[in-house]
Amino acid sequence: MLDRTRLRTLTDRERAAFADRHPRSAAAYASADHLFGRVPMTWMNKNPAGYPVYAERARGARLTDIDGLDYVDFCLGDTAAMAGHSPAPVVAAVTRRLADLGGASTMLPTEDAAVVGAELSRRFGVPAWSFALTATDANRWAIRLLRAVTGRPRILVNSYCYHGSVDESLIVVGPDGRPRSREGNVGAPSDVTLTSRVAEFNDLDGLDRELAHGDVAAVLMEPALTNIGIVAPEPGYLDGVRALTRRHGTYLINDETHTFSAGPGGATAAWRLAPDVVTIGKAIGGGIPVGAYGLSAGLAAALTGRADLDLIDMGGVGGTLAGNPVSMAATRATLEQVLTDSAFVGMIEVATAFADGAREIIGEHALPWSVTQLGARVEYRFADPAPRTGTASAAAADPELEDFLHLYLLNRGILLTPFHNMALMCPETTVDDVARHHEAFAAALGQLAG
Ligand SMILES: Cc1ncc(COP(=O)(O)O)c(C=O)c1O
Repeated sequence: MLDRTRLRTLTDRERAAFADRHPRSAAAYASADHLFGRVPMTWMNKNPAGYPVYAERARGARLTDIDGLDYVDFCLGDTAAMAGHSPAPVVAAVTRRLADLGGASTMLPTEDAAVVGAELSRRFGVPAWSFALTATDANRWAIRLLRAVTGRPRILVNSYCYHGSVDESLIVVGPDGRPRSREGNVGAPSDVTLTSRVAEFNDLDGLDRELAHGDVAAVLMEPALTNIGIVAPEPGYLDGVRALTRRHGTYLINDETHTFSAGPGGATAAWRLAPDVVTIGKAIGGGIPVGAYGLSAGLAAALTGRADLDLIDMGGVGGTLAGNPVSMAATRATLEQVLTDSAFVGMIEVATAFADGAREIIGEHALPWSVTQLGARVEYRFADPAPRTGTASAAAADPELEDFLHLYLLNRGILLTPFHNMALMCPETTVDDVARHHEAFAAALGQLAG
């Protein structure tokens, strides 16, 4: 339906406009000869303009680049800044810990950690918490613990999931229905089809079939997929997952790193789920690195009762900086003062305005796209109805179209997440910010229509 020639012409025009307006970002990129790929982390090259916008400052939902241009930031660090950029309580808590009290890396506990553990327990329902610096590591360490406690070798994930660069998760259902390594699985340490099993999201029969092998230590899943568009669970699916995992003696890990947008206790609390383990990271640190995993009481007792596991010295779980005083101070401030129960009410209201408006604009242009909301998070996808599996959602990807939309919005002061058509609301995002997006989005679709 799309006129591809027109789309390419429009994208070229937007690239030229971007280049005109971003000379300092261009120069910064050109001079970064000693960075691998010219960026601090290679995925920062995922941008539609040919080089990234360099950030100068950011507060709340706003960001200013080094060329002096302002943006409404709906990317929010792909959820790491869901609390808004540099929220005042986090700045105060980090300053107090780092500057006033001192001691960023003492390898000793601070009292903040226990407060954070108690608050995460209240929110997510699992009572025994431990910390990492990233959600990737929280997942890695949770997986190791569950392998140890079950003696089972494999982890099951959903096709086209994302849980960070966790080796076991880089598996998809291939076109022939058989498991295969996900494209781009760099330097896999072992054949992922030997360490993992995979089922489609929303497919209980497939899950049952895979778990029946009896070798799966844990199902690692998001309660809604969020990294291949948002794929929502169908009625009864998550209850079915819980019943099947129990029946097959497999532990269930809810990765709430992104689904935290559903509410103060993530999808786990919002949908009354009962996982054995919850993993999370990003947003709870208010912008400061942190990851966390919470264990059920039974699991914590089983693990601490195992004298053969080295949970104290050189075992497979741990990191020098995990649970450091700065991360703990930031997380406590974020949970107690920023991403509070009442903050979510406002964020979700603004997200609803975003979703409703986006749907209306898409409807006016009669495009076969869908909009899915998960609390404070909204995503449009180039498929209608919204895909019900990760594989179907992957098939609806349209990188050319996505590049155009992202670039068009970027040139009009709207930042979306580079990896998604995702917009996230922080406590400071307003309906006026949403209206700014909608104005540019409607204009972009008008351009596409000619
Ligand atoms: C669901 C989920 N889990 C884990 C991660 C990994 O988080 P991090 O990059 O902070 O390790 C991500 C990152 O996007 C994620 O979406």
